[in-house]
Amino acid sequence: MKRILKWIAATILLALILSIFAGFIAYWRSTSECDRKTVPSNPMKAIVQCEYGSPDLLKFEDVEKPVPNDNQVLIKVRAASLNFIDAGLMRSPFLLRLMTGGLRKPKKTELGSDVAGQVEAIGKNVTQFKPGDEVFGLARPSLAEYVCARERALVIKPANVTFEQAGSVGLAGLTALQGLRTGKIQPGQRVLINGASGGVGTFAVQIAKSFGTEVTAVCSTSKVDLVRSIGADHVIDYTKEDFTKSEQRYDVIYDNVGNRSRAERSRILTPNGICVLAGIGGAGPHEGQLSRIGGGYKAFLASRFSRQKFQMYRTTTKQEDLAVLRDLMATGKVTPVIDRTYKLSETAEAMRYLEQGHARGKVVITVEQDEQASLSR
Ligand SMILES: NC(=O)c1ccc[n+]([C@@H]2O[C@H](COP(=O)([O-])OP(=O)(O)OC[C@H]3O[C@@H](n4cnc5c(N)ncnc54)[C@H](OP(=O)(O)O)[C@@H]3O)[C@@H](O)[C@H]2O)c1
Repeated sequence: MKRILKWIAATILLALILSIFAGFIAYWRSTSECDRKTVPSNPMKAIVQCEYGSPDLLKFEDVEKPVPNDNQVLIKVRAASLNFIDAGLMRSPFLLRLMTGGLRKPKKTELGSDVAGQVEAIGKNVTQFKPGDEVFGLARPSLAEYVCARERALVIKPANVTFEQAGSVGLAGLTALQGLRTGKIQPGQRVLINGASGGVGTFAVQIAKSFGTEVTAVCSTSKVDLVRSIGADHVIDYTKEDFTKSEQRYDVIYDNVGNRSRAERSRILTPNGICVLAGIGGAGPHEGQLSRIGGGYKAFLASRFSRQKFQMYRTTTKQEDLAVLRDLMATGKVTPVIDRTYKLSETAEAMRYLEQGHARGKVVITVEQDEQASLSR
């Protein structure tokens, strides 16, 4: 028996040593596209990150212009926007690196997921779009002059919406819409939105209003007028008032910030209320973020045994949902809130601003027509 236990212990130890060794090798062998860089034969400008770290490491460089496959649409990018995930991928805490596969350096060196622009070319299986169409949706990496997208990740841009507005919608708009749906919002319900003034929050306020709900928005002092202007019925300035101490009860809490405990949020939920956890504390990596993720999971698991529910979800690319956002914009029920607009070459500066975590709506990146014209000369 003793011999068997010794043998098992030795095997475990050996496996541990081997996996540490393999991890070490994987770490040092991990390379990025930058290491294999050649002079592009058909160049375009794009934002490139060869190393993980701060926005100072983002470069505005020539890369190969993408070519669409049979199922893709090539888009001439007019506008894109920055999201929490771009800041996350840029810095990549270790856990995220394990998921993306680039342990020491980013495997994918380009960023951006939202896009609005003009269709330049289509693959042979594409049926919904033709060259010249103005579209918006999701495409990676969109911080570039051109990007390829699946046709089901795009919809036609309404004529009353600018490229800047449409380019800000993709991830934030879908996150807000799918999050509110996760909360099963119904007309007449009371909905509280924590973190109402940022990229996701400004969409959430307007979408929740379009569902016929009574919306209470939580934001800081300088954003009170903004959230009121986009339709919030009530506004709580979190610098002056603690929303979890309110006597009001909410059917749905849509939480973009995740800075309050389960008990605090539970207190202001109706007995069958749903709290949807979208965020982990504003944009950009910051202290305490991992414990907030842990707190979110704990709340989610604990609520399996109670009538009040704490829900988590992951935003998915659905053309039907992009179409809902398109229609909401076309009918004027949702107007994207744009805080600041930067040129593609100024993306590092835009990222520094986003990382402060206090944007008033979306931070948009535009690809100037003259930038594109000068490139084709
Ligand atoms: N579930 C998903 O699949 C998914 C997808 C995308 C994004 N997200 C999440 O959505 C969250 C929000 O993203 P975003 O793009 O809207 O970020 P953002 O544009 O940077 O907005 C952050 C918001 O947080 C607010 N805020 C910061 N500290 C606060 C506090 N102590 N109390 C209340 N509000 C506070 C800011 O408002 P003030 O300036 O007024 O403080 C701002 O409105 C991110 O944390 C991200 O994790 C989730």
